[in-house]
Amino acid sequence: IDIKNLRSTTGGVTTIDPGYKNTGSCESSITFLDGEKGILSYRGYSIEELAEKADFLEVAYLLIFGELPTKEQNDKFHEDIKAESLVDDDIRKIVDAFPKSAHPMGVLSSLTSALTAFNPSSVNVDSEEDMYKSVVRILGKFPVLVAWTLRKKQGLPLDYGDKNLGYVENVLKMMFKKPNEEYVQNKIVVDALDKLLILHADHEQNCSTSTVRIVGSSHAGLFASLSAGISALWGPLHGGANQAVLEMLEAIKEDGGDTKKYMAKAKDKEDPFRLMGFGHRVYKNFDPRAKIIKVAADEVLADLGVEDPILEIAKGLEQEALNDDYFVKRKLYPNVDFYSGIIYRGMGIPTDMFTVMFALGRLPGWIAQWREMRLRKEPIGRPRQLYIGETKRPFVPINKR
Ligand code: ACO
Repeated sequence: IDIKNLRSTTGGVTTIDPGYKNTGSCESSITFLDGEKGILSYRGYSIEELAEKADFLEVAYLLIFGELPTKEQNDKFHEDIKAESLVDDDIRKIVDAFPKSAHPMGVLSSLTSALTAFNPSSVNVDSEEDMYKSVVRILGKFPVLVAWTLRKKQGLPLDYGDKNLGYVENVLKMMFKKPNEEYVQNKIVVDALDKLLILHADHEQNCSTSTVRIVGSSHAGLFASLSAGISALWGPLHGGANQAVLEMLEAIKEDGGDTKKYMAKAKDKEDPFRLMGFGHRVYKNFDPRAKIIKVAADEVLADLGVEDPILEIAKGLEQEALNDDYFVKRKLYPNVDFYSGIIYRGMGIPTDMFTVMFALGRLPGWIAQWREMRLRKEPIGRPRQLYIGETKRPFVPINKR
């Protein structure tokens, strides 16, 4: 390697770090994560305490603005969000244009990007006030897009929400209300979803969050940056893992429930199969979110009276992995997505909507990180490379190649 090629324009040495495993991209005061000890906190509050005592909107406020809201701040925040919960009617036409078979994450990413066209002023974020407007606007409209994405798949009319409801209750009603039927809220489901959204709300510089920050660093608007983040979240190695977990558990069930066979596949280096929902780039100890969700999954399914053979397969896999040398040595523990899908399934949410639910939870984190990046006036994100291609070659005309 010619070391000269590693010199950066600022005079320092360029590090080659594929996957940025050891590279910090920014300073941040939003989320603290200690992967060795399994600690996660938002703005200094432990995830365990927030999941138990706060609601999703308070956590959203905390992440974005840095402090837990007072009652007045919380009420105003919610009112401002509700005032922004109408979506331009032309967006319906876009929803209608998608085939029913379209993956909900592709639809959601496109609709979020399309919002930019109907809210051109949202790219002006020169003042804190402008930023606030964009923030409440997307927090108001995003749940509508989430609900419409599901309703389109199910052939249901695209309704609006109910301004008298809390944020999470409203999401559920928008998603599930059938025409000419009253929608009855189930407190257990509301609480479980609230908790799930809190647990997913931020996770420092993961793939989708880094995407939001890097797209935003070119001063593309908030909605465009979020749309890119949604695409990044879609992949099965990131947010798409929750869908992949359920599909894997289903496949194991269909195949007779032999978890040992799949454990062996996961360990076989010739086999591309991985145990979905296990392992994490940063956690080399139990994912603290998984611990909370695991308890919630048991409670919710018991309360709803759901007896799901999938849950038994999941528990079997977990036990085997915890006692298996391959998994223990590599510190591969169940991650947050191992259990979230089981709860979503219990709530009646279709499998290919799981990652959309993740996006709904991650929205405040993405917003907080984008806002921090803009307020800190961070430079445009632009990694370097180590060129390993051909050196100088003469051009060969097409008839001579
Ligand atoms: N099943 C089997 N083996 C695994 C798994 C798994 N789920 N995860 C990692 N390994 C093995 C790798 O093969 C590798 O083994 P080796 O050292 O013998 O080569 C070792 O463990 C380290 O794995 P890496 O891929 O280098 O770890 P990395 O940090 O790059 O990847 C990731 C982390 C992508 C999460 C990985 O563990 C994985 O693919 N897990 C399954 C997908 C998943 O659940 N993703 C959700 C992540 S959480 C989230 O985004 C919310």
